[in-house]
This record gives sequence, structure tokens and C-alpha cells, in this order.
Amino acid sequence: MEKVRFGLVGCGGMGTRHLHGLRELAQTPFGNVELVAVCDLRPQHAELAAAEAERLLGRRPAVYTDLEAMRHGEPDLAAVDVVTDPSTHHTVVCQALELGLHVVVEKPMAITVRACRQMLEMARRKGLLLSVAENFRRDPSARLVHHLVGQGAIGAPYMGLFHSVSPGNTIFITPWRHHKERGGALLDMGVHFTHMIRYQLGQIAEVHASARIVEPVRVKPKQAVWSYEFYRAQYQEMVEEVQATAEDTSLAMFRMASGATVSWMVGLGGHGSCHRELILGDRGSIEGFGTRGGRVSLQRVGQEEVSQEALLAQTPDFALDPLTAHLFPTGVTAGDSAVDLKLIAFELHELAAAISDKGRVEVDAEWGLKDVAALYAIFESSVAGRPVSMAEVESGEVCAYQAEIDAALGIA
Ligand SMILES: NC(=O)c1ccc[n+]([C@@H]2O[C@H](COP(=O)([O-])OP(=O)(O)OC[C@H]3O[C@@H](n4cnc5c(N)ncnc54)[C@H](O)[C@@H]3O)[C@@H](O)[C@H]2O)c1
Repeated sequence: MEKVRFGLVGCGGMGTRHLHGLRELAQTPFGNVELVAVCDLRPQHAELAAAEAERLLGRRPAVYTDLEAMRHGEPDLAAVDVVTDPSTHHTVVCQALELGLHVVVEKPMAITVRACRQMLEMARRKGLLLSVAENFRRDPSARLVHHLVGQGAIGAPYMGLFHSVSPGNTIFITPWRHHKERGGALLDMGVHFTHMIRYQLGQIAEVHASARIVEPVRVKPKQAVWSYEFYRAQYQEMVEEVQATAEDTSLAMFRMASGATVSWMVGLGGHGSCHRELILGDRGSIEGFGTRGGRVSLQRVGQEEVSQEALLAQTPDFALDPLTAHLFPTGVTAGDSAVDLKLIAFELHELAAAISDKGRVEVDAEWGLKDVAALYAIFESSVAGRPVSMAEVESGEVCAYQAEIDAALGIA
């Protein structure tokens, strides 16, 4: 199989995990990506990634600190995997598209709705693929929930609950996740959740919300979150304290286009903890939206709860795509320590296949923009003190909260 030549742009924590994702892919019969180059503004990050790639993939990619130089140095390059921090996505992605490269960009698609729109329009103008690496949806549990809801297993969904609140005042992975104009923790994490709400329950019509900073000072955690060498090095140089400018706690009510309502409580701070995902329908309920590495179950009216394993056995018309089935032979990712890496493998394979077959990607720029808009609708509603419609936020008509970020980053 002719492999599609990729470059990795952004060799930080998640960039390192993408290298491990490439190894997962290379170990399957579906390997269709060849990593030829890595690029990071910080040469030591790019060098570390090149060494890691050589160890994992058996070939050392070329090292660059500038995307344009990478393009000229690698004339056969077809695509870039952009894993830089969110405030840079629009600049890096638009430059890559301008240079004629297809792109897969990590979530959130961009730092604001306006930045997303610049990317979407550039991809359209250039006729190139722009895929958003939203990994949660690729989890087999998400596929199963989507199938069950679509087949009417719980009747018509009328309500949902998405609660994910973890206490504490430590720095969440990186200091930039506490700065509003760099991409706060709620954007970083919450955009997965707005995506999952939309994937399982359809379009959001209106959002009424409140968001706040509960922990104004974030402190260095006692240890690094991941064991990779990059994260250990990043931990060593982490500042002791960060003054947070990004909200860490949010409460919202989403009114879906279908008429269903979703209760949202998402936060990373304070003193309480609360985790529950539930979809309620007029003939039953599903526990879990199907997030990465999660477990789901179904309860029909008057019947016992059915586990994910039993559901898979009882749902013969549900099938995973061949790569996902190969990566997760049991159809259950809960307890699989490599789930994150395998889902990355899927995303990179998908873009390479779409390039080869002149096909489409599942999570395109339209999806990415709407996920970011749904998340910002929370902040916009909080600032406006009223419910906001998604149409207002997606069009940019309501943007008081994001205007400050756009101004700081020069997003016109
Ligand atoms: N899908 C997931 O589960 C998941 C998990 C973690 C992070 N992410 C996403 O991945 C992205 C990166 O996050 P991270 O934690 O790796 O951040 P990070 O700060 O660890 O790494 C970002 C890297 O990008 C580099 N960089 C910045 N601007 C650049 C540019 N113009 N050109 C080249 N390199 C540049 C930085 O030097 C740094 O090495 C974010 O969008 C984040 O939300 C996704």
C-alpha cells in the first residue's frame, strides 16, 4: 500500500502521544501513514519527538522549526498533523493549507469561532481536507450509543445529563490551560463534551449558562500526569503558580433542536466532585454518552439494565468499521490503557485514506466550528446574562466574550 506522507507540527505532550498513535497504526495491517518530518518552534521539542519517532517507528523523521521550511524540504509531503496549542491552530492550519497540504488538527478546532471560520473558508478555497481530531466520537462505546439512539432503543430522547466536575487547584496539564486567550481548561476539555452531545442528540438550538473562576490561583501538581519523557521534562520546567484568567466551572442548559434539554455541569476546580452521563428517552435510558475509554449500558422501561458486552451480543445489526474492530476486538475500551493512542491511530488513518481515495473525513471543519461555538455559547450566555441561540454564536453576531481573545491574537 502506498503510504501518505505526513509531517507532525507541534511536538508537545499530545504531539508525543500522536507518535505513539502512529506506532499503534503501524502495528495493524491498515498502516497507511509515513511520518517524514516533525516541526516545533522549540528545537528541543522537535528533536525529542524525532528521537521518539525513531524508537517507535524505526525511522528518524527530518526535524524542522518552521512549517514553510518543512514544506520546501519535503516536496512529497501530503498532509500535516497539527498538534500545537489552540491559540496557534488558525495560524498554523491556514499556513499549511496555503502551502497546499491537507490537515488534521487537534481539538478544539481553534481558539474562537472567528478563527474556526478563517480555517473553514481557507480549506474550502483551497479544496483541501481539514479534519478535526475529535477522538471521543471514535470510541466503540460512542458508536454503540449513536446506533442505539438512532435505532430508537430508548424511544425519543427528551433529556440528557452531562456532568463532569473534578475538584482541586492544581495546574491542568499545562499553564496555558488557565489563560483565556491561550485556550482555557473548559475549552480544552468541554469541546469533547459539546461534540458528544451533538453526536448523540443532534443540533443544539439555544444555551443558557453561567461560568466562573473558582480557583484564581493554580499551583504546580505534585507529579507529572503522564510518564512519557516529554511530560517529565515539561513538569521539571513548569512554573510554581499561575494566575488563572480562564473560567474553570460552568453550569448550562442546552435546548436541542429536537426539543430535548441537556443539563451540563463541567468544571475543574473547587471542592466537589460530580460525574454522570445519562440520556433519557420516552422508552428507556442510556447510561453514558460513550466517551473515550468509557462504559455504557441500556435500560429499557420495565427491563433489567443491559451491560455494554451484552448489548454488543444482542445488537447484530451494529458493526464497527474494520480498523476500529481490529484495534478493539471486544468492542469495549474501558480498561484498555492504549485507548487514547488507538483512537489517534484511527484519526490519522482516516485522513490518509481520505487523501488516497479522494474521500471525506467524518469530523470536518463544519463540525469543529459548531463544537467550539457550542462551548463558547456557555461563556457568551454567561456574559450576556441571557440565553443565546447557536445561530447568534455561530454567525459571530454574539461574541462579547470572544472579542477580547480575537483582539489579543489579532484575529480579524
Ligand atoms: N484529543 C485529546 O484527547 C487531547 C489531549 C491533550 C491535548 N489535546 C490537544 O492537543 C493540542 C496540543 O496540546 P498539548 O497538551 O500537546 O500542548 P503542549 O503545550 O504540550 O504542546 C504544544 C507544542 O506546540 C508547539 N508549537 C506552538 N506553536 C507552534 C508553531 N507555530 N509551530 C510549531 N510548533 C508550535 C509548542 O512549542 C509545543 O511544543 C491542543 O489543541 C490540545 O487541546 C488533545
